[in-house]
Amino acid sequence: MCTSKTRLDCKTVVITGASSGIGKETARDLYARGARVILACRNMEKTNEAIEDIKNNPPSHINKDKYKNNAGELAIYPLDLRSLKSVRNCAKNLLTNEAHIHILINNAGVAAYPNEKTEDGFQTTLQVNHLGHFLLTLLLLPKMQLSSPNCRIINVSSLTYIFADIDFDDINLERSYAPCKSYMQTKLANILFTKELARRLKASNIHGINVYSLHPGIVPSEISQYSSNTIFPGATSCYNAFAYLFYKNAEQGAQTTIYCCVDEETANTTGLYYSNCGVATLYRNANNDQYPEKLWNVSCQLLHLEPEEDFTTFLKNVSRQML
Ligand SMILES: NC(=O)c1ccc[n+]([C@@H]2O[C@H](COP(=O)([O-])OP(=O)(O)OC[C@H]3O[C@@H](n4cnc5c(N)ncnc54)[C@H](OP(=O)(O)O)[C@@H]3O)[C@@H](O)[C@H]2O)c1
Repeated sequence: MCTSKTRLDCKTVVITGASSGIGKETARDLYARGARVILACRNMEKTNEAIEDIKNNPPSHINKDKYKNNAGELAIYPLDLRSLKSVRNCAKNLLTNEAHIHILINNAGVAAYPNEKTEDGFQTTLQVNHLGHFLLTLLLLPKMQLSSPNCRIINVSSLTYIFADIDFDDINLERSYAPCKSYMQTKLANILFTKELARRLKASNIHGINVYSLHPGIVPSEISQYSSNTIFPGATSCYNAFAYLFYKNAEQGAQTTIYCCVDEETANTTGLYYSNCGVATLYRNANNDQYPEKLWNVSCQLLHLEPEEDFTTFLKNVSRQML
């Protein structure tokens, strides 16, 4: 468990995919710490139910009275990562309405998703798990710069990255789509994006925004909902049975994300990968020296963003082009 007692009064947190699972439990904890927590989600009915649940039920280690008196605020902003237009609109709304953004948690994800393209022409898993978050982060960075120091960007990855490679010539997997392959590739992308963003921020002397990636643990959740249709009949039940064997519940699964948001020692680190509330070693393609920059350039190409030597100019161009 994350043992930090850090409060987040007057801090604004944006979290994607907080309508269920690990994201909802992360939102509950950060709300309990006094933050204004913005749930960036696509299903309004489900997210309103999540908000009611969060308001009425504290994290397991906090009593109800203490919770009610010390909690922060909750708000919903519509975001469907399958649509870049929705990503831009969400960013626009956040930039217009929110005075600050201190913490961004890129948590939403799909796994073993059918081989479907988005309206933007990308494979859905690639767009939801990587490209959509890549663009959202770039669009919110100028506001985070204004809100720094002590800002954090957290990318929720998965240990499954270990089995992944990235086919830079066919990142959309037109020639070799497989549901697990596409998920693992994006989870490796989350780690590479974290490394490259941290490097670029440092190289541009932009201080006060740290970037983290993490594995939350194995948690039975809705993430396995598509598996029975795409992998084999009964795969969803198999995953959940496996998850129960090794499992963390969703509250435990949220702890490493919470740790990356609030831990005092992690305030001095950036670009690293975490698991079980501590720094974890990276293996295989996550250590390839060329991959982070290659992924950055391919992601820019796909989004028609002009790569630019100077990161501040690049961010200005992204905002001008994309908002
Ligand atoms: N559970 C595990 O064992 C495990 C292990 C390793 C890593 N992870 C990672 O943990 C993160 C959270 O997963 P979880 O287990 O909590 O799964 P989950 O309960 O299925 O939560 C996923 C969240 O992502 C949202 N989402 C999906 N597609 C979206 C879209 N197009 N636009 C916006 N939001 C979208 C979902 O919203 P809807 O409710 O609208 O679908 C939901 O809120 C994911 O990044 C996953 O890769 C999970």
